[in-house]
Amino acid sequence: MIDRIHALRSEIEQYTIEYEDQLEQFRLEYLSRNGKIQSMFKEMGTVAPDERAQVGKLMNETKNLAQARFQEAKDLLDQQVADSFSTLEDISLPVQPSANGTLHPLSIVQREIKQIFYRLGFTIAHGPELEDDFHNFTALNFPPDHPARDMQDTFFVRKSNSEADLVLRTHTSPVQIRLLKEHKPPVRAIMPGRVFRNESVTAKSYFQFHQVEGLYVDKHVTMAALIDTLIKFVKMMYGKDVKYQVRPSFFPFTEPSIEMDIWWDHKDGGRWLEILGAGMVDPNVLQAVNIDPEEYRGFAFGMGVDRIALLRYGMDDIRTLYENDTRFLEQFH
Ligand code: PHE
Repeated sequence: MIDRIHALRSEIEQYTIEYEDQLEQFRLEYLSRNGKIQSMFKEMGTVAPDERAQVGKLMNETKNLAQARFQEAKDLLDQQVADSFSTLEDISLPVQPSANGTLHPLSIVQREIKQIFYRLGFTIAHGPELEDDFHNFTALNFPPDHPARDMQDTFFVRKSNSEADLVLRTHTSPVQIRLLKEHKPPVRAIMPGRVFRNESVTAKSYFQFHQVEGLYVDKHVTMAALIDTLIKFVKMMYGKDVKYQVRPSFFPFTEPSIEMDIWWDHKDGGRWLEILGAGMVDPNVLQAVNIDPEEYRGFAFGMGVDRIALLRYGMDDIRTLYENDTRFLEQFH
């Protein structure tokens, strides 16, 4: 018996208690009512009378030892928990804001444009950013010597020596061609997307920007319907008191062609700002996609998204839209 008590003691001394669950295990094994110490106490009756005093004393010491180890380990674990909290200086402070992503100003404006045209009955179509000459220029009635076909204005991408060069699309109008090749009229869609021009980078111009193209082709589409649609658009975008004007203009792919300006109020005067080009789809364009211009007519428009975003947020440098500086971007929601 005495040997077993000594063995139990050294077991208790060597027991590792580092975690909460080990502490509980220790308590169950030694200190609980069915634990090893209680069951040894129950054996006291079998101990010879002359040994009883010594065994009893040893057993009490063992029990005290187990209780002391339990308490000491418990205090240490409690302290560790307390320490981990004390690194939070004030638990009533509000939490640090986490860096959530926000919508880019161009995305916000583009979404609004899409929503407006969705309400006006337009669907949405997309086309590739890398185009061929046919879709970007020829089918859109650009003459072979048009200046836009010059290296100075357009980014060309060499495919191979034997094949014709591709271009980074200079406008979203080539998507009109793709759409009309795939769908028989009536077609009424907008085509948002990124476009590229070989321009020097300044506060006012950049080598890429965004456009939203619009196209409506059906049997009785008129210039009046075009202007009506554009007026509805500017009123929904800028409010019903917006001041606008429509001027004649020229594009190879529309005839007649117009441009629309809105009045931009500014503390030192204000001025007209061009926001879009538009017109009646040129018969040559319909012919290029095998649509009979005697039967169908269409209108088209194209607007710049970047300009609208700059105006809206009172910014004066287009480059800030492309730098992706999060200190700038996180202002927009
Ligand atoms: N594609 C023209 C541009 O980039 C805009 C436009 C589109 C004009 C459709 C008329 C019709 O300037």
